[in-house]
Amino acid sequence: MQQRLWESVSGGVGFLAYAWYPAIAPVAPPPPSSFSAAQVERGRVLAAGGYCAECHTRTDGKRGVELAGDYKMDTPFGAIFSSNITPDPETGIGRWSEAAFKRAMRKGISRDGTQLFPAFPFDHFTHMTDQDIDDVYAFLMTREPVHSVKRDNTVGFPFNIRLEQAGWKLLFLHEGPLKNDPSQDAEWNRGAYLAEGLSHCSACHTPRNLMGAEKASAPYDGAPVDNWIAPPLNEHNPTPVVWTEDEYFKYLRFGSAPLHGSAAGPMSPVVHGGLSEMPESDVHAIAHYLAQIDHSATRVSRTPRRLHGPCRHPCRIWSARSEPEREVYAGACAACHANAGPQPVEGRPDLALNNALWLDEPTNLFQVILRGIGTTEGISTVSMPSFYHSFSDADLARLAPTCVRPARPCRRGPIWRRRRARFARPCPFPLSRRPIELKDGART
Ligand code: HEC
Ligand code: HEC
Ligand code: HEC
Repeated sequence: MQQRLWESVSGGVGFLAYAWYPAIAPVAPPPPSSFSAAQVERGRVLAAGGYCAECHTRTDGKRGVELAGDYKMDTPFGAIFSSNITPDPETGIGRWSEAAFKRAMRKGISRDGTQLFPAFPFDHFTHMTDQDIDDVYAFLMTREPVHSVKRDNTVGFPFNIRLEQAGWKLLFLHEGPLKNDPSQDAEWNRGAYLAEGLSHCSACHTPRNLMGAEKASAPYDGAPVDNWIAPPLNEHNPTPVVWTEDEYFKYLRFGSAPLHGSAAGPMSPVVHGGLSEMPESDVHAIAHYLAQIDHSATRVSRTPRRLHGPCRHPCRIWSARSEPEREVYAGACAACHANAGPQPVEGRPDLALNNALWLDEPTNLFQVILRGIGTTEGISTVSMPSFYHSFSDADLARLAPTCVRPARPCRRGPIWRRRRARFARPCPFPLSRRPIELKDGART
Protein backbone atom coordinates (compact mmCIF):
# COMPACT_ATOMS: atom_id res chain seq x y z
CA MET A 1 0.00 0.00 0.00
CA GLN A 2 2.75 2.34 1.14
CA GLN A 3 4.67 1.35 -1.93
CA ARG A 4 1.64 2.11 -4.16
CA LEU A 5 1.09 5.48 -2.49
CA TRP A 6 4.72 6.37 -2.91
CA GLU A 7 4.61 5.33 -6.54
CA SER A 8 1.59 7.48 -7.26
CA VAL A 9 3.03 10.45 -5.40
CA SER A 10 6.32 10.17 -7.23
CA GLY A 11 4.38 9.57 -10.46
CA GLY A 12 2.42 12.77 -9.84
CA VAL A 13 5.57 14.69 -9.04
CA GLY A 14 7.19 13.24 -12.16
CA PHE A 15 4.22 14.31 -14.26
CA LEU A 16 4.33 17.84 -12.86
CA ALA A 17 8.04 18.00 -13.58
CA TYR A 18 7.26 16.83 -17.09
CA ALA A 19 4.33 19.20 -17.54
CA TRP A 20 6.00 22.30 -16.13
CA TYR A 21 8.05 24.52 -18.41
CA PRO A 22 9.86 27.69 -17.38
CA ALA A 23 9.23 30.99 -19.10
CA ILE A 24 11.89 31.86 -21.66
CA ALA A 25 13.15 35.37 -20.91
CA PRO A 26 11.78 38.08 -23.20
CA VAL A 27 14.27 39.68 -25.57
CA ALA A 28 14.42 43.08 -27.22
CA PRO A 29 12.49 42.77 -30.52
CA PRO A 30 15.09 41.82 -33.15
CA PRO A 31 15.42 44.53 -35.81
CA PRO A 32 14.11 43.43 -39.22
CA SER A 33 17.53 44.20 -40.69
CA SER A 34 18.97 41.27 -38.68
CA PHE A 35 17.37 38.85 -41.13
CA SER A 36 18.52 38.43 -44.72
CA ALA A 37 16.02 39.06 -47.53
CA ALA A 38 16.56 35.50 -48.77
CA GLN A 39 15.67 34.03 -45.37
CA VAL A 40 12.56 36.20 -45.06
CA GLU A 41 11.44 35.08 -48.53
CA ARG A 42 11.98 31.41 -47.63
CA GLY A 43 9.95 32.03 -44.47
CA ARG A 44 7.14 33.66 -46.46
CA VAL A 45 6.76 30.58 -48.63
CA LEU A 46 6.86 28.27 -45.62
CA ALA A 47 4.32 30.37 -43.70
CA ALA A 48 2.01 30.11 -46.72
CA GLY A 49 2.53 26.34 -46.91
CA GLY A 50 1.60 26.05 -43.20
CA TYR A 51 -1.46 28.36 -43.63
CA CYS A 52 -0.37 30.48 -40.64
CA ALA A 53 -2.40 33.45 -41.90
CA GLU A 54 -5.52 31.30 -42.40
CA CYS A 55 -5.73 30.51 -38.70
CA HIS A 56 -4.16 33.67 -37.34
CA THR A 57 -6.46 36.24 -38.97
CA ARG A 58 -9.90 37.00 -37.57
CA THR A 59 -12.74 36.28 -40.03
CA ASP A 60 -15.91 36.30 -37.92
CA GLY A 61 -17.55 39.67 -37.37
CA LYS A 62 -15.02 42.15 -38.66
CA ARG A 63 -12.03 40.97 -40.69
CA GLY A 64 -8.84 41.26 -38.64
CA VAL A 65 -5.36 42.27 -39.70
CA GLU A 66 -3.34 39.41 -41.18
CA LEU A 67 -1.51 37.33 -38.54
CA ALA A 68 -2.89 39.44 -35.66
CA GLY A 69 -4.79 36.40 -34.36
CA ASP A 70 -8.26 36.16 -32.78
CA TYR A 71 -9.42 33.66 -35.41
CA LYS A 72 -12.22 31.62 -33.87
CA MET A 73 -11.83 27.85 -34.02
CA ASP A 74 -14.87 25.83 -33.01
CA THR A 75 -13.78 22.58 -31.40
CA PRO A 76 -15.92 19.93 -29.66
CA PHE A 77 -14.55 21.38 -26.39
CA GLY A 78 -15.50 25.01 -27.08
CA ALA A 79 -14.18 27.95 -29.09
CA ILE A 80 -10.41 28.57 -29.11
CA PHE A 81 -9.08 31.89 -30.36
CA SER A 82 -5.70 31.99 -32.03
CA SER A 83 -2.81 34.16 -30.86
CA ASN A 84 -1.41 37.34 -32.31
CA ILE A 85 1.79 36.26 -34.09
CA THR A 86 2.81 39.67 -35.40
CA PRO A 87 5.95 41.08 -33.69
CA ASP A 88 3.98 43.41 -31.41
CA PRO A 89 5.99 43.48 -28.12
CA GLU A 90 2.92 43.50 -25.84
CA THR A 91 0.21 41.47 -27.56
CA GLY A 92 2.18 39.51 -30.16
CA ILE A 93 5.48 37.63 -30.29
CA GLY A 94 7.76 40.69 -30.60
CA ARG A 95 9.71 39.79 -27.48
CA TRP A 96 10.01 36.08 -28.31
CA SER A 97 13.51 34.75 -28.92
CA GLU A 98 14.13 32.23 -31.67
CA ALA A 99 14.40 29.58 -28.93
CA ALA A 100 10.97 30.48 -27.53
CA PHE A 101 9.43 30.31 -31.02
CA LYS A 102 11.07 26.96 -31.69
CA ARG A 103 9.79 25.54 -28.41
CA ALA A 104 6.25 26.62 -29.32
CA MET A 105 6.47 24.98 -32.74
CA ARG A 106 8.09 21.79 -31.46
CA LYS A 107 6.39 21.29 -28.09
CA GLY A 108 3.31 23.53 -28.06
CA ILE A 109 4.59 25.63 -25.13
CA SER A 110 4.12 29.41 -25.08
CA ARG A 111 7.00 31.74 -24.22
CA ASP A 112 5.75 32.13 -20.64
CA GLY A 113 5.68 28.34 -20.17
CA THR A 114 1.91 27.88 -20.72
CA GLN A 115 0.78 24.68 -22.43
CA LEU A 116 -0.89 25.41 -25.78
CA PHE A 117 -3.91 23.58 -27.17
CA PRO A 118 -3.40 21.30 -30.17
CA ALA A 119 -5.90 23.42 -32.13
CA PHE A 120 -2.51 24.94 -33.01
CA PRO A 121 -1.14 22.06 -35.11
CA PHE A 122 2.24 21.91 -33.35
CA ASP A 123 1.89 18.11 -33.46
CA HIS A 124 2.69 18.58 -37.17
CA PHE A 125 4.98 21.63 -37.05
CA THR A 126 7.18 19.67 -34.63
CA HIS A 127 8.32 17.68 -37.68
CA MET A 128 9.80 20.76 -39.39
CA THR A 129 13.57 21.18 -39.62
CA ASP A 130 15.37 23.77 -37.45
CA GLN A 131 16.18 25.76 -40.57
CA ASP A 132 12.53 25.92 -41.71
CA ILE A 133 11.35 27.02 -38.26
CA ASP A 134 14.05 29.72 -38.16
CA ASP A 135 12.95 30.95 -41.60
CA VAL A 136 9.31 31.23 -40.51
CA TYR A 137 10.51 33.16 -37.43
CA ALA A 138 12.43 35.55 -39.70
CA PHE A 139 9.32 36.10 -41.80
CA LEU A 140 7.04 36.76 -38.82
CA MET A 141 9.54 39.07 -37.05
CA THR A 142 9.78 41.27 -40.15
CA ARG A 143 5.97 41.83 -40.41
CA GLU A 144 4.29 45.03 -39.28
CA PRO A 145 3.58 44.78 -35.50
CA VAL A 146 -0.16 44.93 -34.76
CA HIS A 147 -1.50 45.65 -31.28
CA SER A 148 -4.41 43.25 -30.87
CA VAL A 149 -5.73 41.23 -27.93
CA LYS A 150 -7.64 38.03 -28.63
CA ARG A 151 -10.99 37.08 -27.12
CA ASP A 152 -11.21 34.59 -24.25
CA ASN A 153 -11.60 30.91 -25.08
CA THR A 154 -14.93 29.27 -24.23
CA VAL A 155 -13.46 25.83 -23.52
CA GLY A 156 -15.25 24.57 -20.40
CA PHE A 157 -14.01 22.72 -17.32
CA PRO A 158 -12.10 20.37 -17.17
CA PHE A 159 -10.70 20.79 -20.68
CA ASN A 160 -9.66 24.39 -20.01
CA ILE A 161 -6.95 23.24 -17.58
CA ARG A 162 -3.92 23.81 -19.73
CA LEU A 163 -1.68 21.56 -17.67
CA GLU A 164 -3.76 18.63 -18.95
CA GLN A 165 -2.31 19.28 -22.36
CA ALA A 166 0.90 17.77 -21.06
CA GLY A 167 -0.92 14.45 -20.71
CA TRP A 168 -2.26 14.82 -24.23
CA LYS A 169 1.24 15.38 -25.51
CA LEU A 170 2.59 12.39 -23.61
CA LEU A 171 0.09 10.26 -25.52
CA PHE A 172 -0.06 11.89 -28.92
CA LEU A 173 2.91 14.17 -29.61
CA HIS A 174 5.75 12.57 -31.52
CA GLU A 175 8.23 15.35 -31.14
CA GLY A 176 11.04 16.19 -33.52
CA PRO A 177 11.87 16.45 -37.19
CA LEU A 178 10.50 13.69 -39.42
CA LYS A 179 13.03 10.94 -40.01
CA ASN A 180 14.06 10.15 -43.53
CA ASP A 181 12.78 6.77 -44.72
CA PRO A 182 15.71 5.24 -46.63
CA SER A 183 13.45 2.65 -48.25
CA GLN A 184 11.67 5.46 -50.14
CA ASP A 185 12.96 7.85 -52.80
CA ALA A 186 13.84 11.50 -52.16
CA GLU A 187 10.58 12.79 -53.65
CA TRP A 188 8.50 10.58 -51.36
CA ASN A 189 10.47 11.78 -48.34
CA ARG A 190 9.99 15.41 -49.34
CA GLY A 191 6.26 14.79 -49.83
CA ALA A 192 5.99 13.09 -46.44
CA TYR A 193 7.85 15.98 -44.80
CA LEU A 194 5.42 18.53 -46.23
CA ALA A 195 2.20 16.53 -45.87
CA GLU A 196 2.88 15.33 -42.32
CA GLY A 197 4.69 18.44 -41.10
CA LEU A 198 4.32 21.93 -42.49
CA SER A 199 1.16 21.45 -44.58
CA HIS A 200 -0.50 19.09 -42.07
CA CYS A 201 -2.89 17.42 -44.53
CA SER A 202 -3.94 14.80 -42.01
CA ALA A 203 -5.08 17.47 -39.53
CA CYS A 204 -8.26 17.67 -41.62
CA HIS A 205 -8.27 14.36 -43.47
CA THR A 206 -7.75 12.01 -40.48
CA PRO A 207 -10.61 11.36 -38.03
CA ARG A 208 -10.01 12.35 -34.40
CA ASN A 209 -10.56 10.44 -31.16
CA LEU A 210 -12.48 11.64 -28.12
CA MET A 211 -9.44 13.57 -26.92
CA GLY A 212 -9.25 15.46 -30.19
CA ALA A 213 -6.12 13.67 -31.43
CA GLU A 214 -5.82 12.15 -34.89
CA LYS A 215 -6.56 8.43 -34.80
CA ALA A 216 -3.27 6.67 -35.46
CA SER A 217 -5.24 3.59 -36.53
CA ALA A 218 -7.09 5.40 -39.32
CA PRO A 219 -4.68 7.74 -41.13
CA TYR A 220 -6.28 9.77 -43.91
CA ASP A 221 -9.62 8.05 -43.44
CA GLY A 222 -11.63 11.25 -43.92
CA ALA A 223 -13.16 13.52 -41.27
CA PRO A 224 -15.69 16.30 -40.78
CA VAL A 225 -14.25 19.82 -40.70
CA ASP A 226 -16.13 23.12 -40.42
CA ASN A 227 -19.39 21.65 -41.77
CA TRP A 228 -17.59 20.02 -44.67
CA ILE A 229 -16.20 16.55 -45.07
CA ALA A 230 -12.52 16.19 -45.86
CA PRO A 231 -12.76 12.96 -47.89
CA PRO A 232 -10.57 9.94 -47.21
CA LEU A 233 -7.26 10.14 -49.06
CA ASN A 234 -6.46 6.46 -48.60
CA GLU A 235 -7.96 3.44 -50.36
CA HIS A 236 -11.33 4.31 -48.76
CA ASN A 237 -11.75 7.34 -51.02
CA PRO A 238 -15.18 6.67 -52.48
CA THR A 239 -14.92 8.45 -55.83
CA PRO A 240 -15.20 6.07 -58.79
CA VAL A 241 -11.93 7.04 -60.50
CA VAL A 242 -8.84 6.25 -58.43
CA TRP A 243 -6.78 9.29 -57.50
CA THR A 244 -3.41 9.00 -59.23
CA GLU A 245 -0.27 11.08 -58.77
CA ASP A 246 -1.21 13.10 -61.83
CA GLU A 247 -4.76 13.80 -60.64
CA TYR A 248 -3.45 14.81 -57.21
CA PHE A 249 -0.94 17.15 -58.77
CA LYS A 250 -3.55 18.90 -60.92
CA TYR A 251 -5.93 19.24 -57.99
CA LEU A 252 -3.29 20.56 -55.61
CA ARG A 253 -1.69 22.87 -58.15
CA PHE A 254 -4.67 24.22 -60.12
CA GLY A 255 -7.59 23.61 -57.76
CA SER A 256 -9.29 21.07 -59.95
CA ALA A 257 -8.73 17.51 -61.16
CA PRO A 258 -10.52 16.68 -64.42
CA LEU A 259 -11.66 13.24 -63.27
CA HIS A 260 -12.72 14.34 -59.79
CA GLY A 261 -13.69 17.93 -59.14
CA SER A 262 -12.68 21.14 -57.48
CA ALA A 263 -11.05 22.29 -54.27
CA ALA A 264 -13.88 24.17 -52.57
CA GLY A 265 -14.63 25.15 -48.94
CA PRO A 266 -11.77 24.63 -46.45
CA MET A 267 -9.68 22.92 -49.16
CA SER A 268 -9.64 26.06 -51.27
CA PRO A 269 -7.16 28.08 -49.13
CA VAL A 270 -4.95 25.00 -48.86
CA VAL A 271 -4.53 25.12 -52.63
CA HIS A 272 -4.83 28.80 -53.45
CA GLY A 273 -3.34 30.40 -50.33
CA GLY A 274 -0.86 27.69 -49.42
CA LEU A 275 0.43 25.26 -52.02
CA SER A 276 0.24 27.84 -54.83
CA GLU A 277 3.11 29.72 -53.14
CA MET A 278 5.29 26.64 -53.00
CA PRO A 279 7.60 25.43 -55.77
CA GLU A 280 5.99 23.09 -58.27
CA SER A 281 8.43 20.34 -57.27
CA ASP A 282 7.04 20.42 -53.72
CA VAL A 283 3.47 19.97 -54.95
CA HIS A 284 4.66 17.08 -57.13
CA ALA A 285 6.29 15.57 -54.04
CA ILE A 286 3.04 15.73 -52.05
CA ALA A 287 1.17 14.14 -54.98
CA HIS A 288 3.82 11.42 -55.17
CA TYR A 289 3.47 10.71 -51.45
CA LEU A 290 -0.34 10.63 -51.52
CA ALA A 291 -0.36 8.25 -54.47
CA GLN A 292 1.49 5.77 -52.25
CA ILE A 293 -0.87 6.30 -49.36
CA ASP A 294 -3.89 5.40 -51.48
CA HIS A 295 -2.05 2.56 -53.29
CA SER A 296 -3.22 3.97 -56.60
CA ALA A 297 -0.68 1.90 -58.54
CA THR A 298 -2.45 -1.30 -57.59
CA ARG A 299 -5.95 0.08 -57.84
CA VAL A 300 -5.66 2.08 -61.02
CA SER A 301 -6.53 -0.73 -63.41
CA ARG A 302 -10.21 -0.47 -62.54
CA THR A 303 -10.33 3.16 -63.63
CA PRO A 304 -11.29 3.03 -67.32
CA ARG A 305 -14.41 0.94 -66.76
CA ARG A 306 -15.48 3.16 -63.88
CA LEU A 307 -14.88 6.27 -65.90
CA HIS A 308 -16.62 5.16 -69.05
CA GLY A 309 -19.76 4.07 -67.23
CA PRO A 310 -20.80 7.48 -65.94
CA CYS A 311 -19.43 9.39 -68.91
CA ARG A 312 -21.12 7.37 -71.56
CA HIS A 313 -24.46 7.27 -69.82
CA PRO A 314 -24.72 10.66 -68.18
CA CYS A 315 -28.21 11.22 -69.47
CA ARG A 316 -29.74 7.91 -68.55
CA ILE A 317 -31.43 9.87 -65.82
CA TRP A 318 -33.59 11.53 -68.49
CA SER A 319 -35.04 8.32 -69.76
CA ALA A 320 -36.66 7.52 -66.42
CA ARG A 321 -40.24 8.59 -65.89
CA SER A 322 -40.89 12.26 -65.28
CA GLU A 323 -40.61 13.56 -61.71
CA PRO A 324 -40.69 17.16 -60.46
CA GLU A 325 -37.23 16.80 -58.90
CA ARG A 326 -35.78 15.92 -62.23
CA GLU A 327 -37.17 19.12 -63.62
CA VAL A 328 -35.41 21.05 -60.87
CA TYR A 329 -32.18 19.21 -61.57
CA ALA A 330 -32.53 19.77 -65.31
CA GLY A 331 -33.21 23.48 -64.88
CA ALA A 332 -30.68 24.23 -62.15
CA CYS A 333 -27.76 21.90 -62.72
CA ALA A 334 -27.75 19.90 -65.92
CA ALA A 335 -27.04 22.77 -68.28
CA CYS A 336 -23.59 23.12 -66.77
CA HIS A 337 -22.92 19.61 -65.53
CA ALA A 338 -24.11 17.18 -68.21
CA ASN A 339 -21.13 15.83 -70.10
CA ALA A 340 -21.84 13.82 -73.21
CA GLY A 341 -18.29 12.96 -74.33
CA PRO A 342 -16.03 10.14 -73.22
CA GLN A 343 -14.12 12.48 -70.87
CA PRO A 344 -15.44 15.24 -68.63
CA VAL A 345 -15.14 18.75 -70.05
CA GLU A 346 -12.49 20.79 -68.20
CA GLY A 347 -14.16 23.28 -65.87
CA ARG A 348 -17.46 21.38 -65.71
CA PRO A 349 -16.98 18.74 -63.05
CA ASP A 350 -18.88 15.60 -63.90
CA LEU A 351 -21.17 15.08 -60.95
CA ALA A 352 -20.99 11.34 -61.48
CA LEU A 353 -17.31 11.47 -60.50
CA ASN A 354 -17.38 14.00 -57.67
CA ASN A 355 -16.81 13.27 -53.97
CA ALA A 356 -19.92 15.27 -53.08
CA LEU A 357 -22.05 12.52 -54.65
CA TRP A 358 -20.06 9.56 -53.37
CA LEU A 359 -19.44 10.34 -49.72
CA ASP A 360 -21.93 8.73 -47.37
CA GLU A 361 -23.09 12.14 -46.17
CA PRO A 362 -24.52 14.85 -48.42
CA THR A 363 -22.65 17.58 -46.52
CA ASN A 364 -20.30 18.67 -49.32
CA LEU A 365 -23.09 18.58 -51.90
CA PHE A 366 -25.29 20.85 -49.77
CA GLN A 367 -22.36 23.19 -49.18
CA VAL A 368 -21.60 23.50 -52.88
CA ILE A 369 -25.25 24.04 -53.84
CA LEU A 370 -25.86 26.62 -51.11
CA ARG A 371 -22.58 28.52 -51.27
CA GLY A 372 -21.69 28.07 -54.92
CA ILE A 373 -17.99 28.17 -55.78
CA GLY A 374 -16.26 31.56 -56.03
CA THR A 375 -13.81 32.58 -58.71
CA THR A 376 -10.93 32.32 -56.24
CA GLU A 377 -11.89 28.76 -55.27
CA GLY A 378 -11.66 25.59 -57.34
CA ILE A 379 -10.51 26.51 -60.82
CA SER A 380 -9.39 30.16 -60.77
CA THR A 381 -11.69 32.58 -62.64
CA VAL A 382 -14.39 29.90 -63.04
CA SER A 383 -17.38 29.96 -60.70
CA MET A 384 -20.59 28.16 -59.89
CA PRO A 385 -23.61 30.20 -58.79
CA SER A 386 -24.99 29.92 -55.27
CA PHE A 387 -28.51 28.51 -54.93
CA TYR A 388 -28.75 29.82 -51.41
CA HIS A 389 -31.75 32.00 -52.13
CA SER A 390 -33.41 29.60 -54.56
CA PHE A 391 -33.87 26.42 -52.57
CA SER A 392 -35.63 25.67 -49.32
CA ASP A 393 -34.52 22.77 -47.12
CA ALA A 394 -37.36 20.76 -48.64
CA ASP A 395 -36.16 21.55 -52.17
CA LEU A 396 -32.68 20.42 -51.23
CA ALA A 397 -33.89 17.20 -49.70
CA ARG A 398 -35.70 16.46 -52.96
CA LEU A 399 -32.87 17.58 -55.22
CA ALA A 400 -29.92 15.86 -53.52
CA PRO A 401 -30.99 12.25 -54.19
CA THR A 402 -31.67 13.22 -57.78
CA CYS A 403 -28.08 14.41 -58.10
CA VAL A 404 -26.87 11.06 -56.80
CA ARG A 405 -28.74 9.28 -59.54
CA PRO A 406 -26.41 10.02 -62.44
CA ALA A 407 -23.58 8.82 -60.21
CA ARG A 408 -25.05 5.36 -60.30
CA PRO A 409 -26.95 5.23 -63.54
CA CYS A 410 -27.44 1.52 -63.79
CA ARG A 411 -27.55 0.21 -60.28
CA ARG A 412 -30.72 0.59 -58.27
CA GLY A 413 -29.68 -1.89 -55.56
CA PRO A 414 -29.84 -1.50 -51.77
CA ILE A 415 -26.70 0.65 -51.54
CA TRP A 416 -28.20 3.16 -53.93
CA ARG A 417 -31.46 3.19 -51.99
CA ARG A 418 -29.65 3.72 -48.70
CA ARG A 419 -27.65 6.60 -50.11
CA ARG A 420 -30.75 8.11 -51.62
CA ALA A 421 -32.42 8.02 -48.18
CA ARG A 422 -29.37 9.68 -46.57
CA PHE A 423 -29.27 12.39 -49.16
CA ALA A 424 -32.97 13.12 -48.75
CA ARG A 425 -32.48 14.50 -45.25
CA PRO A 426 -32.64 18.15 -44.30
CA CYS A 427 -29.39 20.07 -44.58
CA PRO A 428 -27.03 18.52 -42.00
CA PHE A 429 -25.47 21.75 -40.78
CA PRO A 430 -26.95 25.00 -39.42
CA LEU A 431 -27.96 27.49 -42.06
CA SER A 432 -27.70 30.48 -39.81
CA ARG A 433 -27.33 32.99 -42.64
CA ARG A 434 -30.38 31.78 -44.50
CA PRO A 435 -33.26 34.28 -44.67
CA ILE A 436 -36.23 32.89 -42.76
CA GLU A 437 -38.82 33.78 -45.40
CA LEU A 438 -37.24 31.29 -47.79
CA LYS A 439 -37.80 28.36 -45.46
CA ASP A 440 -41.18 27.41 -46.91
CA GLY A 441 -39.93 26.94 -50.39
CA ALA A 442 -40.41 30.52 -51.54
CA ARG A 443 -38.20 31.43 -54.47
CA THR A 444 -36.38 34.62 -55.25
C1 HEC B 1 -5.37 25.21 -37.73
C2 HEC B 1 -5.13 26.53 -37.20
C3 HEC B 1 -3.73 27.03 -37.02
C4 HEC B 1 -2.72 27.05 -37.93
C5 HEC B 1 -2.75 26.52 -39.36
C6 HEC B 1 -1.62 27.73 -37.31
N1 HEC B 1 -1.94 28.08 -36.03
FE1 HEC B 1 -0.72 28.99 -34.70
N2 HEC B 1 -2.16 28.80 -33.26
C7 HEC B 1 -3.44 28.40 -33.48
C8 HEC B 1 -4.21 28.53 -32.24
C9 HEC B 1 -5.68 28.21 -32.05
C10 HEC B 1 -3.32 29.02 -31.27
C11 HEC B 1 -3.63 29.29 -29.80
C12 HEC B 1 -3.50 28.03 -28.99
C13 HEC B 1 -3.80 28.22 -27.53
O1 HEC B 1 -4.25 29.30 -27.12
O2 HEC B 1 -3.55 27.28 -26.75
C14 HEC B 1 -2.03 29.18 -31.94
C15 HEC B 1 -0.88 29.60 -31.30
C16 HEC B 1 0.32 29.82 -31.97
C17 HEC B 1 1.53 30.27 -31.30
C18 HEC B 1 1.68 30.54 -29.81
C19 HEC B 1 1.49 32.00 -29.54
C20 HEC B 1 1.45 32.37 -28.08
O3 HEC B 1 1.33 33.57 -27.79
O4 HEC B 1 1.51 31.48 -27.23
C21 HEC B 1 2.49 30.42 -32.27
C22 HEC B 1 3.91 30.89 -32.09
C23 HEC B 1 1.87 30.05 -33.53
N3 HEC B 1 0.57 29.68 -33.30
C24 HEC B 1 2.52 30.08 -34.73
C25 HEC B 1 1.99 29.58 -35.91
C26 HEC B 1 2.73 29.51 -37.16
C27 HEC B 1 4.13 30.01 -37.37
C28 HEC B 1 1.90 28.92 -38.07
C29 HEC B 1 2.19 28.56 -39.51
C30 HEC B 1 3.39 27.80 -39.79
C31 HEC B 1 0.65 28.62 -37.37
N4 HEC B 1 0.74 29.06 -36.08
C32 HEC B 1 -0.43 27.99 -37.96
C33 HEC B 1 -3.95 27.90 -34.64
C34 HEC B 1 -3.22 27.69 -35.82
C1 HEC C 1 -8.49 22.83 -43.35
C2 HEC C 1 -8.79 21.48 -43.65
C3 HEC C 1 -8.01 20.80 -44.77
C4 HEC C 1 -6.65 20.71 -44.91
C5 HEC C 1 -5.56 21.32 -44.03
C6 HEC C 1 -6.43 19.91 -46.08
N1 HEC C 1 -7.62 19.53 -46.64
FE1 HEC C 1 -7.86 18.46 -48.37
N2 HEC C 1 -9.88 18.73 -48.26
C7 HEC C 1 -10.55 19.36 -47.24
C8 HEC C 1 -11.97 19.40 -47.58
C9 HEC C 1 -13.06 20.00 -46.73
C10 HEC C 1 -12.11 18.79 -48.84
C11 HEC C 1 -13.39 18.64 -49.69
C12 HEC C 1 -13.40 19.81 -50.69
C13 HEC C 1 -14.39 19.72 -51.81
O1 HEC C 1 -15.10 18.72 -51.91
O2 HEC C 1 -14.44 20.65 -52.62
C14 HEC C 1 -10.78 18.36 -49.23
C15 HEC C 1 -10.50 17.69 -50.41
C16 HEC C 1 -9.26 17.19 -50.76
C17 HEC C 1 -9.02 16.34 -51.89
C18 HEC C 1 -10.07 15.85 -52.88
C19 HEC C 1 -10.65 14.53 -52.40
C20 HEC C 1 -11.80 14.04 -53.21
O3 HEC C 1 -12.06 12.82 -53.18
O4 HEC C 1 -12.48 14.85 -53.86
C21 HEC C 1 -7.68 16.09 -51.91
C22 HEC C 1 -6.93 15.24 -52.92
C23 HEC C 1 -7.10 16.77 -50.78
N3 HEC C 1 -8.08 17.41 -50.08
C24 HEC C 1 -5.74 16.74 -50.45
C25 HEC C 1 -5.18 17.48 -49.41
C26 HEC C 1 -3.76 17.60 -49.18
C27 HEC C 1 -2.69 16.95 -50.02
C28 HEC C 1 -3.59 18.41 -48.10
C29 HEC C 1 -2.30 18.92 -47.51
C30 HEC C 1 -1.40 19.57 -48.42
C31 HEC C 1 -4.92 18.79 -47.64
N4 HEC C 1 -5.86 18.19 -48.46
C32 HEC C 1 -5.16 19.59 -46.55
C33 HEC C 1 -9.98 19.89 -46.09
C34 HEC C 1 -8.61 20.05 -45.87
C1 HEC D 1 -23.66 28.11 -64.41
C2 HEC D 1 -23.09 26.78 -64.40
C3 HEC D 1 -23.39 25.88 -63.22
C4 HEC D 1 -24.60 25.53 -62.68
C5 HEC D 1 -25.97 26.03 -63.09
C6 HEC D 1 -24.32 24.56 -61.64
N1 HEC D 1 -22.97 24.36 -61.53
FE1 HEC D 1 -22.05 23.10 -60.28
N2 HEC D 1 -20.24 23.75 -60.94
C7 HEC D 1 -20.05 24.64 -61.98
C8 HEC D 1 -18.63 24.88 -62.15
C9 HEC D 1 -18.01 25.80 -63.20
C10 HEC D 1 -17.98 24.12 -61.18
C11 HEC D 1 -16.47 24.12 -60.90
C12 HEC D 1 -16.13 25.44 -60.24
C13 HEC D 1 -14.66 25.66 -59.95
O1 HEC D 1 -13.90 24.71 -59.95
O2 HEC D 1 -14.29 26.82 -59.71
C14 HEC D 1 -19.02 23.40 -60.44
C15 HEC D 1 -18.77 22.49 -59.42
C16 HEC D 1 -19.74 21.68 -58.85
C17 HEC D 1 -19.48 20.59 -57.95
C18 HEC D 1 -18.12 20.08 -57.54
C19 HEC D 1 -17.62 20.76 -56.32
C20 HEC D 1 -16.33 20.20 -55.80
O3 HEC D 1 -15.97 20.56 -54.66
O4 HEC D 1 -15.65 19.43 -56.48
C21 HEC D 1 -20.70 20.06 -57.58
C22 HEC D 1 -20.95 18.90 -56.63
C23 HEC D 1 -21.72 20.83 -58.26
N3 HEC D 1 -21.11 21.79 -59.01
C24 HEC D 1 -23.08 20.60 -58.13
C25 HEC D 1 -24.05 21.36 -58.77
C26 HEC D 1 -25.46 21.18 -58.56
C27 HEC D 1 -26.09 20.12 -57.70
C28 HEC D 1 -26.10 22.12 -59.32
C29 HEC D 1 -27.58 22.38 -59.40
C30 HEC D 1 -28.22 22.74 -58.16
C31 HEC D 1 -25.06 22.89 -60.00
N4 HEC D 1 -23.84 22.39 -59.64
C32 HEC D 1 -25.29 23.93 -60.86
C33 HEC D 1 -21.03 25.22 -62.73
C34 HEC D 1 -22.38 25.14 -62.49
